[in-house]
Amino acid sequence: MTDARTPTPAPAGPSTWAAGDYPAMAHRLAPVAEQVVRLAGVTAGAGVLDVGTGTGNAALAAARRGALVTGADPTPELLALASERAAAEGLPVVWQEVDAERITGRYDRVLSVFGAMYAPHARSAADAMIRCCAPGGRVVSAAWTPGGFMAATNHVFGRFLPPPPPGGQPPTRWGDPEFLRTLFPGEPTCTVERIAFAFGSPAEAAGFWIRAAGHVQVERARLVATGRWDALHEELATVFAEWNRQPRDGAGDGDGTGVRVEAEYLVAVVHPH
Ligand SMILES: C[S@@+](CC[C@H](N)C(=O)[O-])C[C@H]1O[C@@H](n2cnc3c(N)ncnc32)[C@H](O)[C@@H]1O
Repeated sequence: MTDARTPTPAPAGPSTWAAGDYPAMAHRLAPVAEQVVRLAGVTAGAGVLDVGTGTGNAALAAARRGALVTGADPTPELLALASERAAAEGLPVVWQEVDAERITGRYDRVLSVFGAMYAPHARSAADAMIRCCAPGGRVVSAAWTPGGFMAATNHVFGRFLPPPPPGGQPPTRWGDPEFLRTLFPGEPTCTVERIAFAFGSPAEAAGFWIRAAGHVQVERARLVATGRWDALHEELATVFAEWNRQPRDGAGDGDGTGVRVEAEYLVAVVHPH
């Protein structure tokens, strides 16, 4: 499976993830973190590493179960928010500013929820995750699929943002079971899941999506100056309308103007040793 219909924008690097309202998106993604922690079988006292923890969704979910958790991420601004959340709940999580390719240590569970997929070198990120997983432990990864809604929105962004660096690969490879099986030993168990996003209208949805996307926000001035900012909103709103699954006949929970999309992701459970 490939993800090459249109150029994929360069994955947001550490400096751009904080440029948008990512916490608002993280709030909506929290159920996936809960699911990954559940599938990982995190128990009290287990050592857990959350790779690409962002504002700490999976790290905090694991810590609430009494695990001994480290949350790792290269974006200090998001780690600061994660740390505030942990403090507010009185959870003793260790936070490390480090990217997926440079993680160290030994953990019973190595988790990543839409995090490691953004490492520029998938092979070295996966190797680091395998190295950090203790014998008998598990690696659990959640990643957007190449043919899903997130990829569709990325194709829109790709038409408006600078091209990815030469040789750059789409992060959604991590949502392809075949690719994951090349990354991880031990026959990963892969399941396709969906998370729903609901908004009042396609335009509202597009506005939210663009506000959350740091790698788009850093291009805002250029897109405004070239008269492309509104077109980006319109194209993205069209994608939301095309993917809308909300009933329009009044039988649903909305008034017919709302939009509800389902974004597909792959959860892989790996026993690497
Ligand atoms: C979509 S967010 C996911 C955050 C969090 N796991 C969640 O579920 O909300 C992607 C995260 O990956 C992080 N990231 C970007 N490049 C990374 C890399 N090379 N290694 C690890 N994390 C990275 C970003 O800083 C950001 O926090």
